[in-house]
Amino acid sequence: PDRVFSGVQPSGALHLGNYLGALKKFVALQHDYECLYCIVDLHAITVPQDPAKLRAQTHEITAAYLASGVDPKTAIVYNQSRVLAHTELAWYFNCVARIGWLSRMTQFKDKAGKNSEAMSVGLYDYPVLQAADILAFKATHVPVGEDQKQHLELSRDIAQKFNNDYNAPGFFPLPEPLIKGPGAKVMSLRDGLKKMSKSDPSDNSRINLTDDADMIAKKIKKAKSDAGVIPETEKELEDRPEVQNLVGIYAALSEQTDAQVLAQYAGQGFGAFKPALADLAVEKLRPITELMRRYLSDPEELDRILASGADRANAISEPIMRDVRRVIGFSGA
Ligand code: TYM
Repeated sequence: PDRVFSGVQPSGALHLGNYLGALKKFVALQHDYECLYCIVDLHAITVPQDPAKLRAQTHEITAAYLASGVDPKTAIVYNQSRVLAHTELAWYFNCVARIGWLSRMTQFKDKAGKNSEAMSVGLYDYPVLQAADILAFKATHVPVGEDQKQHLELSRDIAQKFNNDYNAPGFFPLPEPLIKGPGAKVMSLRDGLKKMSKSDPSDNSRINLTDDADMIAKKIKKAKSDAGVIPETEKELEDRPEVQNLVGIYAALSEQTDAQVLAQYAGQGFGAFKPALADLAVEKLRPITELMRRYLSDPEELDRILASGADRANAISEPIMRDVRRVIGFSGA
């Protein structure tokens, strides 16, 4: 039986990359698979968080899920800290994963910079918790953006080593990332070689789900491009990363391929393409922004949704965790 798991950190406003790389895919999968969509508050605290803000941002991500079209009656929506299997399995996996594996994780190196000695142990251990998230439910498919590829490979390595170490072939599935399609790697609007990111100091580098129509139009108008025109072939996009990014965003938002967008706009300059892209982005994002605001006006309803999602998640993870304890050999299990 196929099961989907994915998560988003409640550590700041969501941007177009999160929407296209993750949320939009969550919606597309929910009717074909059993899906768990988590707000990963345990991952958020690997760097310092203000308690009141953490609570508010957990609601914001929940509202963003729902506003994007995730149906909490179908998909299981909850925040990670309500389900203890995450932390428990992370410990068991800490004893399976090797220090050498973690030391190769590029996201830790990027986040820690030169100051890695001063980072929390949790930040270093972040990908082990991520493996536990997925495998506490024996999930088989994980929709994520391209930047999570290495973490997913680590999850597979951990699953495999657990199965080997405990002589339990096939106990954990080797989860597969679902990364394909335009939108899997949305780049900064200011630099086509850097990914769109909430940590970029320039707000003009990203479109936030909370930006209004004027802001979206302004940011797209200011987006880096070049003096050329939209080319005819994908090959001609290869050394024009900013143009490739704008075309890719158009394709992802309009659910077309890059080739279809090129066929429509080839020969046009950015004076024509950017306003079309801005209109499309506003058309797709404005309803989400408005719905988000409506969901956020009823925090008690959001908490009810998270509590009921957590009950459903616990019902799946508890029997799996009982088996895990037995396989490891704990007395009483
Ligand atoms: P987070 O919160 O950083 O990002 C949430 C999702 O957005 C995707 N994403 C992007 N996609 C395309 N272009 C971009 N520029 C871009 N930036 C972000 C991310 O790939 C992600 O899918 N470690 C995860 C959270 C997590 C998780 C998990 C995911 C924790 N446990 C288990 C899957 C399964 C993260 O940092 O997400």
